Amino acid sequence: MAIFGKDEMEGVTLDRALLPRHVAIIMDGNGRWAQKRGMPRSFGHKAGVEALREIIRHSDHLGIEALTIYAFSAENWKRSAEEVGALMGLLLEYFTKELDELHREHVCIRILGDIGDMPKGLERQQQALYAAMEKTKDNMGLKLNIALNYGGRQEIVHAARVLAQRVKDGEINPEDIDMDRFAAELYTAGLPEVDFLIRTSGEMRLSNFLLYQLAYAEFYQTDVLWPDFDRHAYDEALLAYTRRNRRFGGV
Ligand code: IPE
Ligand code: IPE
Ligand code: MG
Repeated sequence: MAIFGKDEMEGVTLDRALLPRHVAIIMDGNGRWAQKRGMPRSFGHKAGVEALREIIRHSDHLGIEALTIYAFSAENWKRSAEEVGALMGLLLEYFTKELDELHREHVCIRILGDIGDMPKGLERQQQALYAAMEKTKDNMGLKLNIALNYGGRQEIVHAARVLAQRVKDGEINPEDIDMDRFAAELYTAGLPEVDFLIRTSGEMRLSNFLLYQLAYAEFYQTDVLWPDFDRHAYDEALLAYTRRNRRFGGV
């Protein structure tokens, strides 16, 4: 077998042919990273954006088809106004500063989540998100999906409601609803299956992330806090993936 495009890693090589097509990441631990330094949580979020920038660039470099990152959950509104404000500010800054470069790299941005239903005062953020999606929608490079005001249960309930309405309107019959038709109503419609889920900071829970889509994803967790999750930590995770034996219920 011809082996191509290998990344060197302390004597180990990453075989690109075995990499996941779709990686999902729960970027966790920003707050604790800041706390350890005696700094406010927003300091951790700022550092988290830097980590994200590197991981996006490296995913693109490795030729990964889709990267889905959990940026803000539907439950994260419970945090203080100060922290939410800092996070939203960083988001706006990210999309205004990085958009041109991402576009140049042919990155296609999609937001997963209910961005039409954000609290008042975030109109500029909303506009920046819509503009980023619109500008990059035809790009054929890395599919970068940002889960924002996202909840997996909310997504599933929304899909059920859309399909129920179609049945009511006489467009489809209940028996037409199968897994393909259901998946087509999720935010991830048209994307490859999620192969690999990474969660940083040692937590071992899904926190309402991609509940439907993670059915057969390989799960990887690391104690590394998100701001410290660099290209090398990512390579290590990907290497672990290439060594997994996925069975999908078979033998
Ligand atoms: C993840 O880091 C970033 C977001 C949830 C937006 P946290 O802010 O959850 O950091 P910890 O888990 O409190 O350390
Ligand atoms: C999940 O992390 C959400 C994001 C990473 C955006 P949380 O820090 O909000 O999750 P819990 O509260 O520890 O479950
Ligand atoms: Mg957290």
